[in-house]
Amino acid sequence: MFENKIVLTGVKPTGTPHIGNFLGAIRPALQLGHQVLDAGGKHYMFIADYHAINAEKDPQVLNQKLKEIACVYLAFGLDPNRTIFYRQSDIYQIPEITTILYAYTPKGFMNKAHAYKACLDKNREAGKPDDDGINMGLYTYPTLMAADILTFDTDIVPVGKDQVQHVEIARDIAGIINAHYNQKLLHLPEYYLDQNVAVVPGIDGRKMSKSYGNVIPIFADDKEIKKAVFSIKTDSRPMEEPKNPEEILVYQVYKSVASADKVAEMAYGLENGKLGYGHIKNMLLDGIIDLVKESREKYQYYMEHFEEVEAMLEEGAAKARPHAAKTLERLRNAVFGR
Ligand code: ADP
Ligand code: TRP
Repeated sequence: MFENKIVLTGVKPTGTPHIGNFLGAIRPALQLGHQVLDAGGKHYMFIADYHAINAEKDPQVLNQKLKEIACVYLAFGLDPNRTIFYRQSDIYQIPEITTILYAYTPKGFMNKAHAYKACLDKNREAGKPDDDGINMGLYTYPTLMAADILTFDTDIVPVGKDQVQHVEIARDIAGIINAHYNQKLLHLPEYYLDQNVAVVPGIDGRKMSKSYGNVIPIFADDKEIKKAVFSIKTDSRPMEEPKNPEEILVYQVYKSVASADKVAEMAYGLENGKLGYGHIKNMLLDGIIDLVKESREKYQYYMEHFEEVEAMLEEGAAKARPHAAKTLERLRNAVFGR
């Protein structure tokens, strides 16, 4: 399905990632990228730093998060010689294209967008004024995201469920502009929802999330990972009591981490009273360390040699800009009648 397609992924610089981010976002995005490239397609991947400034106003924090996310992707195997890997803010055409899109974007599209609506609902629940803490960057976020996508004539945008609506908005804006000028100025993108991506539970059983403080970090040292793994909730049943693995949190996390035969081994041990909670936590710990060991070293390397990463990002931007310039020119010619 990716033959000769243009596929684009945007990542938020969210800070130190956890196992949930890795299994639910980073690994699937990289696997998909390889698939696209192997099928002769083009793969764009960028760090959405213009999006990030809506929420993060401290340049030092922002910069640190950007560094971390760039190094994470490289450490897990992003190949900047194949994937066009850049920072959104290095593509000067994107804000200009966004401005043009604004003129064709019905305000109602923004009113119904999830990210904005979630903030509005929170304000209402807290008895605050509707607009409290909401800046125009957040409000108009889907238009900037549409520009991210439309700039590169993207065919396919891999997304999680929460982003489907944003890709549909991008498609609708492109449709409005094309219809107005009665020509195919912008390419209509489609979203791609990977149904196989697991939601990884955190150490308390809820979805693993920074905001719940229930995460297992990926790039912490072994001791810290061990501490998180050993705080995963269990009960006081003895080892000998046969258990249904599906009810056991350590097993649920293990399913996302280990190979099928290792997972089967843990299931067998639990069902037959041969593995206790200490054993299975150690198995999970080994599984996680195996998964990240090699990448952790690469991550440290890139963090300590960020000038190399900086050069890769600049090279990526240099590869991306000509395409962006073409799209901008096409749009300017149409809207200004040049
Ligand atoms: P958090 O919930 O920790 O703040 P983010 O919202 O920054 O995480 O998520 C970044 C990416 O990681 C998103 O694509 C999201 O779907 C994915 N992700 C986050 N937590 C999980 C999880 N527990 N399981 C699977 N994917 C996750
Ligand atoms: N909004 C996306 C998120 O929150 C990040 C993003 C920004 C993006 N621009 C994009 C994703 C363009 C795909 C395409 O995760």
